[in-house]
Amino acid sequence: MKIDDLRLLLDDMSIEEKIMQLVQLPGAVYESGAAVTGLSDLSLFEKYKKLAGSLLGVRGADKVKAIQDEYMAAHPHHIPLLFMLDVIHGHDTVFPCPLGQGATFEPEVSRKGAAIQAKEAAADGIQVTFSPMVDLVRDARWGRVVESTGEDPYLNGEMASAMVKGYQGDSVSDKEHLASCVKHFAGYGASEAGRDYNSVELSEYTLRDKYLKGYKKAIEAGAKLVMSSFNTLNGIPSSGNKWLMRDVLRDEMGFEGVLISDWGAIGEMVPWGFAKDLKDAARLAIEAGVDIDMCTESYAANLKDLIESGDIDVKLLDEAVFRILNLKNELGLFEDPYHGASMERYEEIRLSKESREVARDAVRKSLVLLENRDDTLPIKEKKIALIGPYAAEKNLHSSWALSLDPEKTVTLMEAAGESDDVNLFIGMNQGISASANRDKVVRVAKGSTILDNDSTTVIGTYTNDNFDDENASLLCEAIEVSEWADTVVLCLGEGIGQSGESTSKTNITLPEIQMELFYEMRRRAKKLITLIFTGRPLDFEHIPELSDALLICWRPGTEGGHGIWDILTGRFSPSGKLPMSLPYTVGQAPVYYNAFATGRPKPTVGQSSFTTRYLDCPNEARYPFGYGLTYSKFEISKVELSGHAISKASGNTITASVTVTNTGVTAATQTVQLYLRDMVATRVRPVKELKGFKKIRLLPGESGTVSFEINEEMLEFWTLDNKFDSECGEFKVFIGFDSTTDNEAEFILDI
Ligand code: GLC
Repeated sequence: MKIDDLRLLLDDMSIEEKIMQLVQLPGAVYESGAAVTGLSDLSLFEKYKKLAGSLLGVRGADKVKAIQDEYMAAHPHHIPLLFMLDVIHGHDTVFPCPLGQGATFEPEVSRKGAAIQAKEAAADGIQVTFSPMVDLVRDARWGRVVESTGEDPYLNGEMASAMVKGYQGDSVSDKEHLASCVKHFAGYGASEAGRDYNSVELSEYTLRDKYLKGYKKAIEAGAKLVMSSFNTLNGIPSSGNKWLMRDVLRDEMGFEGVLISDWGAIGEMVPWGFAKDLKDAARLAIEAGVDIDMCTESYAANLKDLIESGDIDVKLLDEAVFRILNLKNELGLFEDPYHGASMERYEEIRLSKESREVARDAVRKSLVLLENRDDTLPIKEKKIALIGPYAAEKNLHSSWALSLDPEKTVTLMEAAGESDDVNLFIGMNQGISASANRDKVVRVAKGSTILDNDSTTVIGTYTNDNFDDENASLLCEAIEVSEWADTVVLCLGEGIGQSGESTSKTNITLPEIQMELFYEMRRRAKKLITLIFTGRPLDFEHIPELSDALLICWRPGTEGGHGIWDILTGRFSPSGKLPMSLPYTVGQAPVYYNAFATGRPKPTVGQSSFTTRYLDCPNEARYPFGYGLTYSKFEISKVELSGHAISKASGNTITASVTVTNTGVTAATQTVQLYLRDMVATRVRPVKELKGFKKIRLLPGESGTVSFEINEEMLEFWTLDNKFDSECGEFKVFIGFDSTTDNEAEFILDI
């Protein structure tokens, strides 16, 4: 539809029609099977079904078409509905959780994954996805770190930009693409004490220098929607924050798309004590520029009165309605209200072999090898035991994978069983498949339940009356299998419901029942390879020093078993790097690499009293941001600079180069990282900031040069003049394989 016609449509709409375009209902009001991802009394919404402008949670081409047909036939102007859903790391083909995608340090992995997710979800009737989640995270207590790509603004921006491009393609009207909604704007990852929905206190300096950059990159990539977050920012709930939404998001970042609240966030301004009642909340939100009220009746029940009483200008309503109509128009819904949804095409494309291969590649690249003593990995032994609750677990996704069929997930056991060099026996000599020409023998034992008996999860409280008996027998079997084996692959991890929304934890260790299994396996295993399935950094206790190898698998998704088996057997070398610092203990939270030096940095050696320190723990993370081993060894040359000065006036750049050599015996990929430090400035600056990364694959003995262009913009920060600018002076450049690199050179920024 032409823009002029859209305006004519707007002018012809009644005030009721206009207001209801701003209302999003839980899809469960229409269809009982719809995903419910928030709190709501569904009965509230029955009366709004006729005119509400969008739905959340309905999927299925035929259902979507039926609802769309009924809705449009009854609508006075036959305006189509919008169908939205969280497709954040997979629809049918589920990719590694976003934190695992961050570990790939390869935006293209996320772009390709998002494109496949969009293709499957669009065929299934979805038009908008609530992704990417770009919240910068530093606190492992917060369960939603699983949805983020980590602690670094630059990495988050690169990954988010790639996801937006993958979801949206060249045009969101294309039936294989979705409109992307960036969330949660803004600063949600800094929720106090890591507790979900909590307050956020950030200086404007930190907000702009760290937290806003990722969202900005996603908006620059063309995201069509932004979602307001649950948290307050310095005392103001995001959904009522005019400065954040109008001055920063719209005016500064130039965002012209649709701003949707998070589920219930407008109404929640009342319990926050920011709004007197839902009517007040509706006023505050529409004044802040929130276009869609997700799943409350704040707008539906109050906007008309607010307009007719003159409390708000009808222009605020019209601008919101126009943005929503424009989004529907960009999606092509006035021409094709189904956006190409097709049950036939959905069945044809979902979980295709090609999609699985892309997902399998993403899994391989997401795995982070933290320890590998005496080259324990890749596995060389013949008798292999896969032990632990994740050895044959189908739930390898995160709790945000709302549409998958877990039965389609490939477990590690199944991957081993399909492998062309393995005989496989489950538990005590039950064979899945066996043939003479295989030289590895794998046995599998569960070893323990995932959760302790008294643990509760988002999915519900895990209660099991015969818990002790069950685990006793599981342990007994695991002991027998571990003593048989030449090497034990121990598959541990937090439960699927222990990360995600509303899953904050004060204890980030593994369940006791699993740690008991770990120590029993350590006592018996000739070699112990520990795999950790997790949506967050964990306190590994003694696992690292007692394991011969330690591999983080995150929440790997549909192709988890295949991707992990490919790495364990050496078909591929691991290349993943930590997107988030791993603490020694939860007491360190928040811990992150790009911190300030303080006035009393703790010396690396010698006396540390009267310096910034803990008496009982190092300051640094146990495993730092950007860290990850490969199966080979790499060396790096000193940093070579093409010059020693950047001039603000001339805008010249400096090229920083290193030569990387594979000094090992295996081909492998290394991720070379560029960090900068501003040595003296009118605000203290982080000891390091990631400004670039490049992956290089080298054969044994091979060398390659990796170069980065350093420009003035990389040196900018939020200055006392309340703008991004650089300041002349001395800088250091570091190039290495993780954020602790001391491979440095110096340059200056001059006028
Ligand atoms: C949830 C989440 C948000 C999600 C929305 C819709 O409460 O906070 O990330 O997109 O509701 O499901």
